[in-house]
Amino acid sequence: MKYKNILVTGGAGFIGSNFIHYIIKKYPETKIINLDALTYAGNLENLKEIENNENYKFIQGDICNEALVDKIVKENKIDLIVHFAAESHVDRSVLDSKDFIKTNVEGTRVLLDVALKNGKIRFHHVSTDEVFGHLGGNDKPFDELTSYNPRSPYSASKAASDHLVRAYFYTHQLPITISNCSNNYGPYQFPEKIIPLFTTNLMEGKKIPIYGTGEAVRDWIYVDDHNRGVMMIIEKGKIGETYCLGADGEKTNLEITGKILEFMGKGEDQIEYVADRKGHDLRYGINASKIKNELGWEPEIEFEDGLKKTIEWYENNQTWWKNIKSGEYQEYYKKQYQ
Ligand code: NAD
Ligand code: TYD
Repeated sequence: MKYKNILVTGGAGFIGSNFIHYIIKKYPETKIINLDALTYAGNLENLKEIENNENYKFIQGDICNEALVDKIVKENKIDLIVHFAAESHVDRSVLDSKDFIKTNVEGTRVLLDVALKNGKIRFHHVSTDEVFGHLGGNDKPFDELTSYNPRSPYSASKAASDHLVRAYFYTHQLPITISNCSNNYGPYQFPEKIIPLFTTNLMEGKKIPIYGTGEAVRDWIYVDDHNRGVMMIIEKGKIGETYCLGADGEKTNLEITGKILEFMGKGEDQIEYVADRKGHDLRYGINASKIKNELGWEPEIEFEDGLKKTIEWYENNQTWWKNIKSGEYQEYYKKQYQ
């Protein structure tokens, strides 16, 4: 890989921590700085295995702190920024959108300005398919030409960040790329998202809450397939371009729930139908032809295999999620870093 010193933002979260594990395995000579504020979603337990690796360093801090980001970039001769940090949960954005605007929009602006002022550092922005809005049952899946039409405060904040990233390319020729990926699942996903929430609830003997009728559709991709795509875009993607990532994994929430129940040997009596999410997006789906045709990316993990692996991971890592659910997970690190 041509980059030597990578700044990963949000590397203590779900996708970012999987990305760091992936990079350390694949490019052991590359130095990684992980800048993460350790919000409720950040958990250094995700990186315990590699915390003493000499090519890895964690810095607790906010991406909105421009002086800090500038110092980190200069001191570590950063030549690539991979930007994962975000407020990421739709339900939280429905309750309060303030932090979404701050981190997702202003935080991205800070990173772009620091990248610009330090010699136009290569910048990859990790985004979501939710910026495109939602699809009707018979609509064609989203692709790179789909108009933006975000419908939740979360997706609106991510859409704003995408526009800003692209604007820095057109205005300042900052060397950027963007990926818009569908719903991820896999190890280290915070148990507020549907797959880890349902899996861990069932392990605890609790009910699983389906919003509305359960007919909403999400397009599922295993987290490693996403991160491999991100790395391919960084290495081979065209500067200034956007790539949609998805694994042709469209499923209704009832289908997902049925599979989780089946693999865990539980019955439908565990389901509890609850009030629908406000403004609930009906369907997301991605057409990933561009990255497949231009960069040769293909997803490698079949949904059922990935789901089984994920359930197994939650079974084998009960302390990880029990500490999160009990609120104990950040106590140790709070003492260490604050
Ligand atoms: P996550 O919520 O698990 O992790 C986010 C991380 O960012 C946490 O570690 C948190 O501490 C950190 N963070 C938040 N605010 C910060 C700030 N101001 N400064 C520094 N760090 C901060 O999220 P995730 O699911 O891993 O998502 C990562 C990225 O991928 C996000 O940009 C998200 O929009 C995007 N994405 C997620 C999915 C998905 O299905 N989860 C799909 C497509 C794209
Ligand atoms: P989620 O995992 O929050 O991801 P996103 O909203 O970003 O797609 O939700 C995935 C789908 O699952 C979405 O249609 C809402 C639904 N859902 C439930 O039915 N029950 C739940 O408890 C949660 C968290 C989500």
